[in-house]
Amino acid sequence: MTSVKITDLGNASICATDVGGFVIPEFMKTPEETKEIFDKVPEFKFKDGDLMLCTYPKTGTNWLYELLMMILRKSSKPIEGNKGDLMLEFQSVENLDKQPSPRVVNCHLPYRYLPLKDMKAKQIKTILCCRNPKDTAVSYYNHMTGLKPYNYEGKWSDWLPVYLQGKLEYGKYTDYLKEWEKEIQNGVGYPLHIMYYEDMKINGIEEIEKLLKFLDVELEENLKKDILHNCGFDIMVKKQIPPAIKEMLFKSDFRFLRKGQIGDWKNWFAEAQNEMFDDIWKKEMSGSSMWKFKYTDPRS
Ligand code: A3P
Repeated sequence: MTSVKITDLGNASICATDVGGFVIPEFMKTPEETKEIFDKVPEFKFKDGDLMLCTYPKTGTNWLYELLMMILRKSSKPIEGNKGDLMLEFQSVENLDKQPSPRVVNCHLPYRYLPLKDMKAKQIKTILCCRNPKDTAVSYYNHMTGLKPYNYEGKWSDWLPVYLQGKLEYGKYTDYLKEWEKEIQNGVGYPLHIMYYEDMKINGIEEIEKLLKFLDVELEENLKKDILHNCGFDIMVKKQIPPAIKEMLFKSDFRFLRKGQIGDWKNWFAEAQNEMFDDIWKKEMSGSSMWKFKYTDPRS
């Protein structure tokens, strides 16, 4: 395992940890610490009532985490802490074990690194949330330029090609999706619910209903509405982040909940970039039929 420097087309760079042919964020830890945590992920042991939330970065993890925690707690009270508290590749097993149940364990790692043994043995209810890849890319770029530990100031036009080549942490989104698709076709062996960021935005109540059915949880109508409202962008954006954490992690103009929209990519992609993106996406996903993304908000 090593710390690797990934350079964009303008020569700006990002450091990450190579955990053995796969690159994940340094998370302000040494490569040794990151690797130690990473190596233990496949052997992770779930507790009764745990859910597993799987996402590629910037596809709505924090939102789904908040929503699922509220559902499990049958309460619309904002959740203390955030998904980082239960993120498999970020927290030591000791820290994860300390978190009170019910828990929404989560992870951005590709399928092959998941704690599959225990997910199957304990039939862990698993939620996979996806987002259209163009908004995901824009959100990821803003994440990397906005968080201090990356120390990255590169331009969008220099970042995008490197991202598309899969050189940045967590690799290609196309690979992430293709790996899931193959496993789903073979039968994953535990209960799985797939959802989309865009559907949550467009028809949140319907998505909550589907989730409740999957989770076998019943909620009063008013509570469903309150939960949807309280995990919405306008409320979550007001959640207090401890000033010390903000100071340590965020550049002055950065907001973790940045825009929360469908279609912001249109403000970022030049025509040629959009064509390049479409070409690459089409080629890489040519054998795939599973994913149906919405690139525009039909309400706007
Ligand atoms: P944008 O950068 O497009 O605003 P993740 O949680 O996986 O890191 O994803 C972050 C993205 O989800 C960000 O997208 C963020 O604003 C958006 N997001 C977070 N909470 C949200 C919410 N409650 N409603 C809508 N979008 C949300």
